[in-house]
Amino acid sequence: MSKTQTIVVFSGAGMSAESGIKTFRDVDGLWENHRVEDVATPEAWLKNPNMVTKFYNERRISIIEATPNEAHFAITKLESISNVDIVTQNIDDLHERAGSTSVHHLHGNIRYSKSSGPNQEREYYRIDGFELTESDVCPEGFRLRPHVVWFGESVPAFENAAAILEKADVLIVIGTSLQVYPAAGLIDFAQNAAHKFIIDPKADILSVPDDYRRVSAKATEGMLGFFDEIKNMLSDE
Ligand code: APR
Repeated sequence: MSKTQTIVVFSGAGMSAESGIKTFRDVDGLWENHRVEDVATPEAWLKNPNMVTKFYNERRISIIEATPNEAHFAITKLESISNVDIVTQNIDDLHERAGSTSVHHLHGNIRYSKSSGPNQEREYYRIDGFELTESDVCPEGFRLRPHVVWFGESVPAFENAAAILEKADVLIVIGTSLQVYPAAGLIDFAQNAAHKFIIDPKADILSVPDDYRRVSAKATEGMLGFFDEIKNMLSDE
């Protein structure tokens, strides 16, 4: 076993499903009873920032009230045998709250806000409590918006995430439908030599290359027993 090896976890909404947070594409095409274009686009913000702010305030409350599930904790435990980097598409902070130390948010983090002005990627502000309000502004006076990447926006964390995927000795893709780009394209950055797994109830039908081992299971069940397997795999090398 060697701490010079790196396990990379690439997670999506299914990771937090068993913590009670809804996925995006599993049910009715709506996100928490809203069309995504009404709440998760720059146009929605321009049209009705109060409604968008309220929507994300509600999401933030659900996330704060949720707790990490066994799969989050199982991933944290992998840090005892290897370097572990997590690239998550989720805007919740359940990986961090489970104790994982290297978590990279591709689509932002709902516990933070950022300026809605031109310098929005310069600084992120921790939201104390549940709510962002109309009177919260950045030092330049622009209203603060949730630190999330909306549809139609660029993904500033992509390059760094791609560099992380490139370094994986073991890659665990978990709870993502791999339908949203550029995020889904990250898996192309893994090296041929990496050991690759996809854990998802729909693993059998998700679009990944042939060198992935498909584990058709929910996150918690799929991660069960994984610790010993990965430990053995790394110690054999
Ligand atoms: N455990 C593991 N996976 C699960 C579970 C579970 N308990 N329940 C559902 N899943 C799987 C589904 O089978 C599906 O493949 O989680 C996946 C969720 O897919 P999506 O809802 O499309 O979520 P995700 O891939 O994370 O979406 C990517 O799209 O809307 C945007 O920005 C948003 O980050 C999000 C991005």
